[in-house]
Amino acid sequence: MRIDVVTIFPDYLAPLSLSLIGKAREQGLLDLAVHDLRGFTRDRHRSVDDTPYGGGAGMVMRPEPWGAALDHVRSLAGPGTGGAPHLLVPSPSGVRFSQAMARELAAQPWLAFACGRYEGIDERVLQDGAEAGPVTPVSLGDYVLGGGEAAVLVIVEAVARLLPGVIGNAQSLVEESHEDGLLEYPVYTKPAVWRGREVPPVLLSGHHGQIERWRRDQRLRRTAARRPDLLAQIEPASLDDADRAALAGDPTSGPDDAT
Ligand code: ADE
Repeated sequence: MRIDVVTIFPDYLAPLSLSLIGKAREQGLLDLAVHDLRGFTRDRHRSVDDTPYGGGAGMVMRPEPWGAALDHVRSLAGPGTGGAPHLLVPSPSGVRFSQAMARELAAQPWLAFACGRYEGIDERVLQDGAEAGPVTPVSLGDYVLGGGEAAVLVIVEAVARLLPGVIGNAQSLVEESHEDGLLEYPVYTKPAVWRGREVPPVLLSGHHGQIERWRRDQRLRRTAARRPDLLAQIEPASLDDADRAALAGDPTSGPDDAT
């Protein structure tokens, strides 16, 4: 996969050279480039913002540098990239990012991110971009960040770890939170007793059926306690009697570790 990021703070993206993403880049699984928006300005002050038409607080990012930067990114098309990148514009007024979107993006050959600052980017940049390829304003959640850079770090990490070969054990991608609408079960490692706290005995029993049941109970209870909105989306017909017992708080269905 190819990813291009345009920003006025290239150093903000330095963590994309570390850990999982850094390794994926070294291994050639991810080809990522960061571009400085100011390099595409033409005025002496290298200005990227101006006052909003119609009045109001704050500043808006000017369309000219963005147009030039995104034209440059598109000119980098290569054999594996397809025609134009899918342009993602982090914004609190975008569509909500999710694991499902991460999966969709991981299947695409080329993504580009336009990191807005201030009150956002002149809307015509998105309209102009849509003539070349898909454009999606994307929000991490219902809060406001100072700019798109932190959102890009999050989105790139969520997407890159889904790329084939990036995570050694592909099974760990299947069993995690948000892959099937339930949160992940609690996990434990050695020692079996730590500060007087025991690992739930079933996990030491070697009884795979009971462990699987316990884990599912924990997932259901956790989801009910922490994310009732997710539980409400689950098809009732997909729950069996044991599932319903776990949600009803049946004490025989395992220790309650819902919170
Ligand atoms: N930029 C500012 N706020 C944001 C948010 N909530 N999600 C994504 N990008 C943003």
